[in-house]
Amino acid sequence: MEFGHESVVVRRGRRSGLPIVVAVHSTALGRAVGGCRMWAYDSWEDGLRDALRLSEGMTRKCAAAGLPNGGGKTVVVLPAGRSITADERHAALHDVGDIVAELGGTYVTGPDAGTGPADMAVIGERTEHVFCRPEAAGGSGDPSPFTALGVVAALRSTCLALFGSPALAGRRFAVIGLGHVGEQIARQLAAAGAELTLSDADPAKRPLGAELGAVFTEPGAAATAEVDVLVPAALGGLLTRDLVARLRCRAVAGAANNQLADPGVAELLRERGIRWAPDYIANAGGVVNAVSREVLGDEPEKAVRRIESIADTLTGLFETAARMEITTARAADDLARRRLAAPVPTAPGPA
Ligand SMILES: NC(=O)c1ccc[n+]([C@@H]2O[C@H](COP(=O)([O-])OP(=O)(O)OC[C@H]3O[C@@H](n4cnc5c(N)ncnc54)[C@H](O)[C@@H]3O)[C@@H](O)[C@H]2O)c1
Repeated sequence: MEFGHESVVVRRGRRSGLPIVVAVHSTALGRAVGGCRMWAYDSWEDGLRDALRLSEGMTRKCAAAGLPNGGGKTVVVLPAGRSITADERHAALHDVGDIVAELGGTYVTGPDAGTGPADMAVIGERTEHVFCRPEAAGGSGDPSPFTALGVVAALRSTCLALFGSPALAGRRFAVIGLGHVGEQIARQLAAAGAELTLSDADPAKRPLGAELGAVFTEPGAAATAEVDVLVPAALGGLLTRDLVARLRCRAVAGAANNQLADPGVAELLRERGIRWAPDYIANAGGVVNAVSREVLGDEPEKAVRRIESIADTLTGLFETAARMEITTARAADDLARRRLAAPVPTAPGPA
């Protein structure tokens, strides 16, 4: 395997005893950013692999979003098969803070799967290089509503590509996963007059369907529902070769990371004429907000304009992919590569 990262720290946490990986993939465009994942893996090597993959993905995401940042990621490898105590968690967060502090500001951490703003405040007791502490603690808070805002902008762009109009009213969407991001997407789509099919592995989410006047169904049925746009907002890997052959939607655009089960699936989607909004383009709203507010010092309105510009980026990718007869995945990767090859001193974006 080629080693393409700038630095990788793998350490047993001094306080927690847990394996902790902090991977800095690139600082070519500026300080690396990327969240802290606290997750159970079968082995610390699996956690390392995830950190390497996710930090590289963050480099692409930041570059394509026009942010003056590179990619990094922290993984705290939780023991498989048992939950950790509040004290162990606190200790692990302080361990993370110490490693991030040692990196001297080349990497800034934030929330990811298994962590949230309150955890960032704990990391913040050891280092200033942390995003998304609660607003009361001086941070920009939970990124999820901003991720949802960016996904809805991507859905408008997708409707523009499909129908020649970005209007959401009357369009049919199936949202899979109604967690922090998916619920907000569903609420915004309902408010805009869309027709909704909703789904979550957790039956406790069913009442949201009734509240929003939506059909609630099990995830398998939602994935193959006859809708305009399928919106993956649960875990990654939804778009397998088998599922793509059975899809009855005209486009897929959502929040979930790593939607393609393997890279070749992008070509299968293209062959079926199903437009795909590359995941790291559609779900960049959270990191765009954090950088905009906490690094660039933007007012909230300007951060929102930056997030909404995801729609323009995606429209450009749909056009490029159609013109060059390539997948949108390839068009997005090319965009990120071009930006990495020609670093800009400040973030482009709406004034
Ligand atoms: N939170 C953010 O700001 C953010 C930013 C970028 C990307 N993402 C990605 O978006 C996705 C959702 O993030 P989130 O923060 O809302 O997570 P979350 O954990 O709050 O919600 C996930 C939801 O999906 C449901 N779910 C899990 N497995 C499922 C399955 N097989 N079928 C149907 N539902 C299932 C869960 O019950 C839960 O309600 C993830 O892939 C995440 O990596 C999130």
